Amino acid sequence: MLVAHYYTDPEIQALAEETGGCVADSLEMARFGNDHPASTLLVAGVRFMGETAKTLTPEKTVLMPTLEATCSLDLGCPADQFTAFCDAHPDHTVVVYANTSAAVKARADWVVTSSIALEIVEHLDSEGHKILWGPDRHLGSYIAKQTGAEMLMWQGACVVHDEFKSKALLELKAQHPDAAVLVHPESPQAVVEIADAVGSTSQLIKASQEMDAQKFIVATDKGIFYKMAQLSPEKTFIEAPTGGNGATCRSCAHCPWMAMNGLSAIESALKAEDKGAHEVFVSEELAQKAMVPLNRMLDFAA
Ligand code: 13P
Ligand code: SF4
Repeated sequence: MLVAHYYTDPEIQALAEETGGCVADSLEMARFGNDHPASTLLVAGVRFMGETAKTLTPEKTVLMPTLEATCSLDLGCPADQFTAFCDAHPDHTVVVYANTSAAVKARADWVVTSSIALEIVEHLDSEGHKILWGPDRHLGSYIAKQTGAEMLMWQGACVVHDEFKSKALLELKAQHPDAAVLVHPESPQAVVEIADAVGSTSQLIKASQEMDAQKFIVATDKGIFYKMAQLSPEKTFIEAPTGGNGATCRSCAHCPWMAMNGLSAIESALKAEDKGAHEVFVSEELAQKAMVPLNRMLDFAA
């Protein structure tokens, strides 16, 4: 069964839809893999999504179009260094973003995705927990600001969302004063502050359907435009500007690792006699530890 993220290319999302699979955000992907009876899951997304599926359902075969598809948040949070950070603050409850390795999750008390992070931190804060958060500093700052929770922060960032520029976004907004601005909270704070709606991929898609505006400027990976346009074909969707060194790029917000999930990579995963190049494995010891905070999130979200 094919499970694809909203950031994969349009033909991959269409294939998942046509074959009875699912196109979803990180939380829904985890849920779908957990609940679906298929014995093999083909996860089109990035490595942590495949590892999450394997951790939650070790009895299933979990394949990925490529095992090379990683994530800058995962890369920027090595398990040994993160463990040392946690060990230095033993009185803190460790909350990690789903965009991490199974080894980092194994050291956590809670795993969260962007669609449930606010509620879980709010809940922990109300119970008086001191929170150690990792790895995305922008999402962490957004949650800390929204909830008022004190959070010790790992300093990771998403290479895609970190590139959105507030000045260029304000200029674009001035050219389209009737447009509403939708922003994923992995973006820098100055960009989040301009937003009319902030949320996970599924929450931004919902906002694009439910808000009154007919035009939207969207600050997240451009893969999301497939679903937004499919659900609201009468509406206009504009990419938020990105760029380095003052330059402005209007169509470069696309995760290089999500882009590795091409049709030929999928074909190769399904045909390969040696599934070793595509099959995700998580050691039993790690899976047993990582499963605890993952299931805590799924139970909380239920
Ligand atoms: P969502 O959980 O919002 O789908 O985000 C996953 C992700 O990788 C965002 O960059
Ligand atoms: Fe990771 Fe960013 Fe790619 Fe999402 S868009 S998978 S956070 S690098």
